Amino acid sequence: MAEKQDFNAVDAAFYQPAETFFTAHRGLALTYDDVTLATLYSEILPRDTQLDTQLAEGLSLNIPVISADMDTVTEARMAIAMALNGGLGLIHYNMPEKQQLSEVSRVKNHVHGLIQDPIKVAPEQLIGEVIDMIEKRKFDFSTFPVVGADGRLAGLLSGHVVKPRYARRKVAEALTPRDQVHTIKQNELGANPIARADKFFTDHPGIHKLLVVDEEDRLRGLFTMSDVERITQERSAQFKLARDARFRLVCGAAVSATRNAFGDLDRDRILDHVGALVDRGVDIVAVSTAHGHSKGVGDTVRMLRDAFPKLPLLAGNVTSAAGVEFLADCGANAIKVGQGPGSICTTRIVAGVGIPQLTALYTCSRAAQHKQVAIVADGGITKSGDIVKALTLAQGVICGGLFAGCPEAPGQMMEIGGKLYKQYRGMGSLAAMKAGSAARYGQPANNTQKVAPEGVEALKEVSPSTDRILAQLIGGIQSGMGYLGAANLAELRQKARYIRVSSAGMREAAPHDVVEVKTGN
Ligand code: XMP
Repeated sequence: MAEKQDFNAVDAAFYQPAETFFTAHRGLALTYDDVTLATLYSEILPRDTQLDTQLAEGLSLNIPVISADMDTVTEARMAIAMALNGGLGLIHYNMPEKQQLSEVSRVKNHVHGLIQDPIKVAPEQLIGEVIDMIEKRKFDFSTFPVVGADGRLAGLLSGHVVKPRYARRKVAEALTPRDQVHTIKQNELGANPIARADKFFTDHPGIHKLLVVDEEDRLRGLFTMSDVERITQERSAQFKLARDARFRLVCGAAVSATRNAFGDLDRDRILDHVGALVDRGVDIVAVSTAHGHSKGVGDTVRMLRDAFPKLPLLAGNVTSAAGVEFLADCGANAIKVGQGPGSICTTRIVAGVGIPQLTALYTCSRAAQHKQVAIVADGGITKSGDIVKALTLAQGVICGGLFAGCPEAPGQMMEIGGKLYKQYRGMGSLAAMKAGSAARYGQPANNTQKVAPEGVEALKEVSPSTDRILAQLIGGIQSGMGYLGAANLAELRQKARYIRVSSAGMREAAPHDVVEVKTGN
């Protein structure tokens, strides 16, 4: 009788867990395409996999994908699209601080269950002032509760009358009076306010707003029918919207370690601005720089941690275990890993530094585990398979180029040779640094002669909507998890087995020896 063989041992000799694999390759820096993941016995169907991830206490995402804080990738429109899909957008900082605040407000005001602190107007305001406010704060709604000086509800200003032709009229002349406005008492909302509001809208055809008042008729909140419907539908979707505790979409914002005219950290300015971001409801602040393992970034993170003990902080970028330890000790909850992998980056060429992503993620993951912080893989992701590989070591990924061609990314489309493109530029490119991001690269902001760009200005072919791109990426991630028998991201990290790929193996991985007529997209 043939001797019983342990075939698991055969596999184990070839397909190794992270520690064995990366230690064995310690003389060689590896990135996504250098490696492939071994398939494993599975009882998990891709569609049943869970993708939720925690970046900090109190901040979880339903998908582990973040859009980059770059001025050609993430402003409010992109951040809204990301959060509606369960992810997160980081609003960039190449804009005046006031504008960044209003971008964050736009996201936070986008969809609500009960809007607890609705934007109100006063009876003596002019309609023209209301129109100015809508434009300035970029609201995409125009109906407002009217509250008098005594704090009591005076009526509702309907969007039908918020028109330039009525600009010179007072709100008091145009409002729907209090006795015709539908309201519900706060203490009548019961244990399930959304269900209560849903029933109200069913019972009152044509009414789209329900105001919540207290015993003294002071405004305590607002339901809108579209928000309530969205929340009701969302219960059946697999990946729920990423929301804060008050039902608002989550939103992140980036800041840099800004210096004053004397070259010192501009503490007051950074603290004031982050304080204002917190007031607007920001869920995470990213201290985004090219070199996170540095005194200026450490001091900034420590200062923010002291001033805002509960605020989730993301900081970076680093590519070493010591860099992760440093930022974690300064108070960061999550750390960005990546120096030079980005599609528009030239850091490795210009400065001769940076580590290919998988090796960087492995070294960083060792310290992250020890320090109990999250790491996110930032840059260099071109396909869903890269994300699966990144998630074997990290809690999330940041993508720039993958979203830069989407309609939700800032910037105009342009036509070149019959094809449509959008601009995509590195935050370390000359143009972006002139627009404000020089501090991120430790470059002088006011003397562009001396600036050494670490990024390029490029174009991306216009791509489908962020929803479509994310659907493809999520499908790929779930598929990878199914192949590894991983029901969730913790299991993916624990089960992953790696092997290097030869250059012939890489060619084999892409379509070959065929004339491609249609891609899978
Ligand atoms: P992808 O590959 O997704 O990369 O386009 C986006 C990430 O690249 C980083 N980034 C830069 N890195 N020079 C660099 O070396 C730059 O000009 C630059 N701009 C962005 C950043 O981490 C981003 O998330």
